Amino acid sequence: DAALLALDVGGTKLAAGLVTPHGELLASRREPTRLQAGPEGVLRQLVALGRDLLAGHAGPVSRVGVGCGGPLDRERGIIQNPPNLPGWHDVPLKDWLEDALDLPVDVDNDANAAALAEWRFGSGRGCEHLVYLTLSTGIGGGVILNGQLYTGRAGNAGELGHLQVEYLGEPCTCGGRGCLERYASGTGIGRRAREWARRHPDSLLAQLDGGPEHITAHTVRRALEDGDPLTAAFWDDTLDYLAAGVAGIIHAFDPQRVVIGGGVANFGDLLFPPLRAKVAARTYPALWQGMSLRRAELADHVGIYGAAAVALSRAAPAPHRF
Ligand code: BGC
Ligand code: NA
Ligand code: ZN
Repeated sequence: DAALLALDVGGTKLAAGLVTPHGELLASRREPTRLQAGPEGVLRQLVALGRDLLAGHAGPVSRVGVGCGGPLDRERGIIQNPPNLPGWHDVPLKDWLEDALDLPVDVDNDANAAALAEWRFGSGRGCEHLVYLTLSTGIGGGVILNGQLYTGRAGNAGELGHLQVEYLGEPCTCGGRGCLERYASGTGIGRRAREWARRHPDSLLAQLDGGPEHITAHTVRRALEDGDPLTAAFWDDTLDYLAAGVAGIIHAFDPQRVVIGGGVANFGDLLFPPLRAKVAARTYPALWQGMSLRRAELADHVGIYGAAAVALSRAAPAPHRF
């Protein structure tokens, strides 16, 4: 079977891989995104990564799948103005890549792609109704309903990081206020933790990593592991925002499973057990019972598997088969 070339476009890093239709990763590359070079520069990087993989592969490659932060026009493969790719406006990624690589290219939202990958190869296997959430630089979501990715009108269904969990809250790049992403993404956690630490200069949180200015989500995790009470209160507050978002998602879609991935999922037991308790307390028992909230499985390579799943699903869009 011909392999797929998978390209994952993130604000921090680019990843590329060759994947078989059965989900075997044959080769991969990654490098930091050179955002300063603008969309054309990032395109050159992507094309170089792709050509490198194609040149090193003996067998056939049938198509290219791309996952990229939204919003976007999925059919035309145009990336509109993603918050984590500053300077991108209506970038015709599909056309550019088709010209450069001479293969059919399918583009989708990065989190929708990851949802397809977790569904096909990871924690979502066997679910008819699945919601995937990635807590990373931003928060992305992907919704699988009745055994199919739910795309919405242009491919932007599942922008779950922009659920507004604080109706008078902080302004967000999407135009909304109090979006979940402001509170529970890796960057949101870091920013809010810096504010908490500045208000509590005697706390352990404020001492680690050389002072409040240097705090990131990693600092929060270490302070929690060290039993810092201030950080525990901050984390409890963060989990309340996340639980409000997840409860809303469950009420909207009645999924069998909610899968959470992204860097923040590495909080592991600091995240999942208390989050389950908080979501349970906020959700209609009829929808919560029998539903599972799990950690994603695909970890580091989810972006590549996601992009491959996009290419597979567009090539053979039948439900359950991609
Ligand atoms: C964007 C989503 C994306 C997510 C994760 C959000 O800010 O709106 O399209 O899926 O970040 O990258
Ligand atoms: Na999405
Ligand atoms: Zn928003």
